[in-house]
Amino acid sequence: MSKFGDYWASQCGNPRGMIGSIMTWAMNRANNVMYHGMIEHMKLSEDIKILDVGFGNGYLEKLIYRKVKCSIYGIDISKDMVKSASAKNKKGIANGDIHLSVGDCCNLTFENNSFDIVATMNTIYFWDDTIRGLQEIYRVLSEHGVFYNAVLTKESLDKVFYTKNGFKKFAPKEYVEMGKRVGFKNISFSDLGEKYGLLVIYEK
Ligand SMILES: C[S@@+](CC[C@H](N)C(=O)[O-])C[C@H]1O[C@@H](n2cnc3c(N)ncnc32)[C@H](O)[C@@H]1O
Repeated sequence: MSKFGDYWASQCGNPRGMIGSIMTWAMNRANNVMYHGMIEHMKLSEDIKILDVGFGNGYLEKLIYRKVKCSIYGIDISKDMVKSASAKNKKGIANGDIHLSVGDCCNLTFENNSFDIVATMNTIYFWDDTIRGLQEIYRVLSEHGVFYNAVLTKESLDKVFYTKNGFKKFAPKEYVEMGKRVGFKNISFSDLGEKYGLLVIYEK
């Protein structure tokens, strides 16, 4: 694989500097159908608490908060993304509703049963330990909480040159197996764009 491909993959998994900002901006546009599709599935109301894992430049937070003024927490391993996402979500942060910080989904610092919804988009490929990340999400979800995992299908990822290294790609069957392994009961799928993205919905 080319050096450029490796570099781009590493920016996807941990966006940094000016290039990271450009890449996440481009992602916002390219994956618009995925953000909106995921939000349509969420049962949003002002009294719920959401965690977004790997928020990138905070576009999902902005869209959710525009729709419903609920409580939104987010963690991302990239310090630069915490800065960009905070700039994008000034109003929600000033209102005390949006809380963004550096964090790793394989080691969450939240109490058990803290969130009604956990969401993540295009991040599971990069977690160091996928099962550990899913266990952590299960732990912080409240009873009957829902985890929305928006991903590009394995076929879509395979079409892109920079996903050869640095991306863990899973088939639908594997998403189900891993979810069951950590305790999720009902696991279902919804299309996010025809044969493009997939929303894996895990119920606790
Ligand atoms: C491809 S970007 C997607 C950003 C955002 N979810 C979106 O769709 O606009 C992947 C993001 O996941 C973050 N990330 C990768 N591994 C992570 C981990 N273990 N815990 C938290 N965030 C992680 C990266 O820093 C990056 O911001």
